[in-house]
Order: sequence, then C-alpha cells, then structure tokens
Amino acid sequence: MPVNTLSHSRGCGNPIGFTDVEPGEVVVDFGCGGGLDVILASHKVGLQGRVIGIDFAPQMIERAKKVLVEAGLQDHDIEFRTADLEKTKIADCSVDVVISNCVIHSLRGPANQMTQNSR
Ligand SMILES: C[S@@+](CC[C@H](N)C(=O)[O-])C[C@H]1O[C@@H](n2cnc3c(N)ncnc32)[C@H](O)[C@@H]1O
Repeated sequence: MPVNTLSHSRGCGNPIGFTDVEPGEVVVDFGCGGGLDVILASHKVGLQGRVIGIDFAPQMIERAKKVLVEAGLQDHDIEFRTADLEKTKIADCSVDVVISNCVIHSLRGPANQMTQNSR
C-alpha cells in the first residue's frame, strides 16, 4: 500500500473488510477520497472485477488516480467519477456491493440515498 494513500486517508474503518466481496464482482465506493478503500476493493475483486470510486472533490479524485499508479493497479478495472453522491445515479442492477467509509452520515438525505443504493 503506498504510504501517501495511508497518510491521506480520512476513513474511520475498513468497510471492505466487513464485506463478502468475491473476485469478479463490481464494487462502488461512495466518497472514495484518496483511494485507500478502492485499492483494497480492487485487490478483492481482482482483474475480472471492477471498482468505481465516486467523490465530489476533484483534488481527491486526482490524488486517488495517482495512488492507483503507485499501487501498481493500472491494469485493474477501476474508474473514478467526480460527482455529488446526492445527485449521481448508478444504473439499476449494475453493482454488487456499495461501500462507504464515514460519508453516508454526512449526506443531507441519507435515508433516500440508502434506498437508492438498494435498487
Ligand atoms: C472519510 S473520506 C473517505 C475515505 C476514503 N474512502 C478512503 O479510502 O480514504 C470522505 C470522502 O467523502 C467525500 N464526500 C463527502 N460528501 C460527499 C458527497 N455528497 N458526494 C461525493 N463525495 C463526498 C469527501 O470529499 C471525502 O473525500
């Protein structure tokens, strides 16, 4: 794990450690920040899987893209999107697991967001 990733993470747990993510699955990280949880998720889903990191701060997305290269995961299927979680839409049934590390509680409409996530 790149040192920069660890030192810039502002998460308060390890959500991917509590999931049963399998190789080949699709994971979305709501509020991906500097990319630590995306990297952990990508190791779990492997080369056949896919990870999408979403954050509304362009600086965090740029940082996440850099640490992805430092972590040697350029050949993994990882996409970063700059977007507000409360406005962004994800296609129905396109994702296996949604993770979020210290973000959901700060959303204005967390109940709505969680309902949307479970589609
Ligand atoms: C605690 S950090 C997440 C840690 C990250 N998962 C990691 O691996 O280091 C929270 C992130 O959520 C983002 N965030 C907070 N509210 C958001 C929103 N409404 N839409 C998109 N991103 C949001 C912040 O910009 C911040 O980068």
